[in-house]
Amino acid sequence: MSNANIFFDEQQQVFHLSNQQVSYLIQIEDGGVLSHLYFGKKVSGYHGSRLYPRLDRGFSPNLAGEPHQTDRRFSKDTLLQEYSGYDTGDFRQAAIKLRGVDGAEATDFRFKSYAIEKGKTNLSDLPHAYVLSDDEAQTLAIVLEDVTLNVELTLYYTIYADRPVVTRWSNIKNLSSENVKIEKIASLQLDLPANDLEVISLPGAHVRERSIERQPLRQGLTTFASHRGTSSHHMNPFIALVAPTTTENQGEAVGIQLVYSGNHQFSLEKDYVDQLRILAGINEEGFSWELTPDDSFQTPETLMVYSDEGLNGMSQAYHHLLRERVARGQYQYAQRPIVINNWEATYFDFNAEKIEEILDEAAPLGVEMFVLDDGWFGHRDDDDSSLGDWFEYTAKLKDGGGLNGLSQKVHDKGMKFGLWFEPEMISKNSDLYRAHPEYVLRIPERVMTPSRDQYVLDFSRPEVVDNIFDQMAAILDNVPIDYIKWDMNRHLTEVYSTALPADRQGEVAHRYMLGVYDLANRLTSRYPQILFEGCSGGGGRFDAGMLYYFPQSWTSDNTDPIERLKIQYGTTLSYPVSSMTAHVSASPNHQTGRKTSLKVRGDVATAGVFGYELNLAKLSDAEKSEIKDQISFYKQQRQLIQYGDFYRIKSPFEGNETAWEFVNEDKTEVLLFNYRVLSTAQPAFSITKMSHLLPEVLYVDQATQESFSGDELMSIGLYNAPIEQADFTSSVRYFKVQENELK
Ligand code: DGJ
Repeated sequence: MSNANIFFDEQQQVFHLSNQQVSYLIQIEDGGVLSHLYFGKKVSGYHGSRLYPRLDRGFSPNLAGEPHQTDRRFSKDTLLQEYSGYDTGDFRQAAIKLRGVDGAEATDFRFKSYAIEKGKTNLSDLPHAYVLSDDEAQTLAIVLEDVTLNVELTLYYTIYADRPVVTRWSNIKNLSSENVKIEKIASLQLDLPANDLEVISLPGAHVRERSIERQPLRQGLTTFASHRGTSSHHMNPFIALVAPTTTENQGEAVGIQLVYSGNHQFSLEKDYVDQLRILAGINEEGFSWELTPDDSFQTPETLMVYSDEGLNGMSQAYHHLLRERVARGQYQYAQRPIVINNWEATYFDFNAEKIEEILDEAAPLGVEMFVLDDGWFGHRDDDDSSLGDWFEYTAKLKDGGGLNGLSQKVHDKGMKFGLWFEPEMISKNSDLYRAHPEYVLRIPERVMTPSRDQYVLDFSRPEVVDNIFDQMAAILDNVPIDYIKWDMNRHLTEVYSTALPADRQGEVAHRYMLGVYDLANRLTSRYPQILFEGCSGGGGRFDAGMLYYFPQSWTSDNTDPIERLKIQYGTTLSYPVSSMTAHVSASPNHQTGRKTSLKVRGDVATAGVFGYELNLAKLSDAEKSEIKDQISFYKQQRQLIQYGDFYRIKSPFEGNETAWEFVNEDKTEVLLFNYRVLSTAQPAFSITKMSHLLPEVLYVDQATQESFSGDELMSIGLYNAPIEQADFTSSVRYFKVQENELK
């Protein structure tokens, strides 16, 4: 019996979606207006407690059309709705804006019909959460119509059986004989009664991705968005709404995450009576879509999570959902190999000899995969050429037998071989540009805006995607390759396609994303044995959309362990550790110049999908021996780290210390990581309280053999006394439940 249930109460005209954890309630209000009642902790039944009060408010228009238009007490101006229209009585931000051939922008969608299905209705060309069997979820499709425009809008709600998750997206269909222009279409609207909620967002920058920011909401509009053509380093497509009292382990939190990697927008509008409207979807700026008769358009999907166990509860739901029902492929649950990547070791300046030196060191230390980064193709010796020329730079590795010779050597050493690509880009200095200047995104009469001396391919054109696919396939069919790092190192400007007419240019950014997804889909389907890692100048496209194709992503180009504490901590708010790659790099660090010990670099990177990014050949024997130990530790703990439950304990955004833990499924094994940034004279002895353990059993520290009960570790906590008087220190403790305890 599935726990997911959707029920329509005819009498109250209320849809109730529920499972053991959450309820979502929607009402068909007067005139067929769809109103939002509730999303939160599961309720056993609904008997009208949230029926929207009637009040005649000044300047609130009445509902158009008989028989309600004389009722002055009912207005869309303040009504909490599921999907609001534009210019027909609701003055807040609209979920949908359509322009008819007459130039009018008004929309007024009313209830038409509904269907309840087992399982999940999936989007066709966009990434999405999925189910493995129809028992895992139920889906409600509510069809609304705008009778004037003759357009049908279907809102899809899927409730999972055993997760505090509701997914949403919408589909619009033009039933008229005229074109309709979509000027805005949200994936989700959530209207909430007057409240004092705060919003958490994940803003950032290149080398400073996903900082956690929390702010109260005041009347007016607050927006979190990207207009860079990608989900971006600068604003991750995720927000959480929390009560002012919500902490990591207590209180309510609602997460909203977009499964999309392009321009996005989260708008939060607190209206004049303190009600909150949240809209999430494709960024309306620069977006429009010409909907021809009979044509339809699907919005990206959003993943909503409810937690009454604080932010850690919300993150747990996302970690499990993204790992289990968004990520796919042979590596979905596989232990990810430990990498050595040559980027920070050599940058572009490598040859067969330099690479072989690294390989000779890597294999005996236990490294499992070598990744050849940027610089192996075209005639690329710097970042100003060859993007788009995905054929081997034969001169560069000729002494080692080229790419095939290198692949052979790596495999002979018992390691896997990975290769870097940047499929969406083109250099002016490339054969591809010389042959196809029209393949670039550009406005014909305007000088192109450069960035890193490279330009963006027009992936809205299928022939461009085909060209890159064919070039990549030629390499992948001829060289044994186990892993691909898919990079993307600039944002989109002059978002214009010469292949589309003037009135369809608003479609380019979204069509570009559809092209990216198409290429990702074709490559991952044709080469299922290859592990793909997403990357965009570090973590610039770290989102659930890319995760559908690539189970892991480079978290940041910033490999400084101290800065990584914040980056990794923020990333885990909505993404699982199995998706978050983390490398030990050289000291002084190349991004910050900070000097840190190999230990703290290892202790930060081992809390992710682990690897190295430095010249092993330049290290001392003592350092190599320490690396060997780090690798062997990681191999022992890899399952727990990559697939255990991750809980944040102390935030690097709030103080000098950071702590987090990994707990296995039956809570019998725990890894506790503690970090201290700066040393102080007369240090305070802080306490670290662990969480999510079994309260009444003994946990034994496997290094010291000290044992503590679970509730002792959770309620009393452990002193976190400094291990040494130095900056940038860390410790890792591994606890196991004493065997005879569990009988
Ligand atoms: C940006 C990536 O994040 C780096 O790891 C590296 O691959 C460079 N690009 C190469 O150009």
